[in-house]
Amino acid sequence: MRVMRVNDYGALSQAAADWVVAQITARPDAAAVFPTGNTPIGLYQELARRYTLGLFSTTQLRLFLLDEYWGLADDDPRSFYMWLTRELLNPLSISPRQLTRLPSHATDPEAAGCAFDAAITAAGGLDFAVLGLGLNGHLGYNEPPAAADAPTRVLTLTESSIESAAGYFGGRDRVPRQAIALGMAPLLAARHILLIASGEQKRDILRRALKGPVTPEVPASFLQQAPAVTVIADTAAWPEGDA
Ligand code: PGA
Repeated sequence: MRVMRVNDYGALSQAAADWVVAQITARPDAAAVFPTGNTPIGLYQELARRYTLGLFSTTQLRLFLLDEYWGLADDDPRSFYMWLTRELLNPLSISPRQLTRLPSHATDPEAAGCAFDAAITAAGGLDFAVLGLGLNGHLGYNEPPAAADAPTRVLTLTESSIESAAGYFGGRDRVPRQAIALGMAPLLAARHILLIASGEQKRDILRRALKGPVTPEVPASFLQQAPAVTVIADTAAWPEGDA
């Protein structure tokens, strides 16, 4: 695992964009995952800027959705699909056809989760995954406890995640209680993983993820055992004494 400490959020967004562009340049048809949330917004703005300058192409990318609220209508503007479309796909001219959505209202969720994982396998596995870090240690909505071999599945959100999403939904009572998450198994098998974390509020959980015991109680701790992981964190999230 390589941990890169940068000064601030702007530097994090730049360094993360360097990493993503290097991945896409090495493998223009990469099968890839990108997160939603506050942390990647600067990264997506920087990718859009570089894309407009013609520094990389997106026409062959094959994306998989990392997580989705369970039961939201396909075109609900609060869905992660719509969020990613606004923040990443549209600015980078990535067609909706290049993104495999999660089956977020399947009648047989277990079978649908299996089919989603089979689609990742058929794509050759994930070439790279960019991930944020939940305050409770989740990767995507793989809420604790999450085993390393967990497949794509429906789960109940923890209080911490409901609280974090409350602003987005206009109140905690409006946050869906369940989500479907791309499983830990296909995520951890990605050939390259980038974890981004910013801000003092992530300091404790980042330390537990990188230096604490590897445990389902902190799903991100399994990154300690994954093949090629890069972590980019600003000094607020990863102060020098934490190295
Ligand atoms: P954030 O979310 O980027 O909004 O902090 C990260 C996460 O919950 O995965």
